[in-house]
Amino acid sequence: MYAISLGDDGAELRPLEVWHAEELLAQIDRGREFIGRHIGLPDVVSDLDGARSWLRSYADKRAADAGSLHGIWLDGKLVGGLLFRVWDTPSGVCEAGCWLEPAVAGRGLVTRGLRVLLDWAFQERGMHRVEWHVSSANEPSINVARRLGMTREGVLRENHPYRGVRASTEIWSVLAPEWRVARVRTPRNDH
Ligand SMILES: CC(C)(COP(=O)(O)OP(=O)(O)OC[C@H]1O[C@@H](n2cnc3c(N)ncnc32)[C@H](O)[C@@H]1OP(=O)(O)O)[C@@H](O)C(=O)NCCC(=O)NCCS
Repeated sequence: MYAISLGDDGAELRPLEVWHAEELLAQIDRGREFIGRHIGLPDVVSDLDGARSWLRSYADKRAADAGSLHGIWLDGKLVGGLLFRVWDTPSGVCEAGCWLEPAVAGRGLVTRGLRVLLDWAFQERGMHRVEWHVSSANEPSINVARRLGMTREGVLRENHPYRGVRASTEIWSVLAPEWRVARVRTPRNDH
């Protein structure tokens, strides 16, 4: 098991696994409304069985090298997570995602964690392109893409019916050579 410090504030990145189901459910319960504004994760993690099967789906992805899930712990408490929802080694393309509970937003936890994961994706795993798919109404998440130096490539207009509204999805990405340049300018914990 790994545990990677994200700074000097007690934040850590660790694998989020099936045995964390109760902890995950409690975490989602603390932020159900906030987390669910643009993404369906709270609906998937609606109870303990839902939490277990979602975690198991990521354990399966990890076993197949088709995705991964990583929790963010702050002072020993699970407060959010990062994931590679899609991971395709042959094409060198993957898609990252994230969530936090509202009490810990605004501290750079997701940006700091993603810098670690993108370093790993590009440097250790040789990926070429990391994508970020985000609702055009999700300003905090769009800001994460900006902070990571991603480029906005386009909009899938009204492609995603969610809670009775047709949302549009923005596609952002960063390529390996761009990441190398950006990382020279911005070390991991730099703001
Ligand atoms: C998307 C989401 C994770 C963004 O959370 P966030 O806290 O704004 O993002 P970060 O953790 O990267 O923190 C960035 C904020 O911390 C600040 N910050 C403080 N220290 C920082 C540091 N070391 N590095 C980067 N930012 C830092 C930034 O200025 C920024 O604050 P601002 O937006 O007021 O300028 C959050 O809104 C969320 O969980 N939403 C619900 C789920 C969701 O929509 N997920 C995304 C699906 S695409």
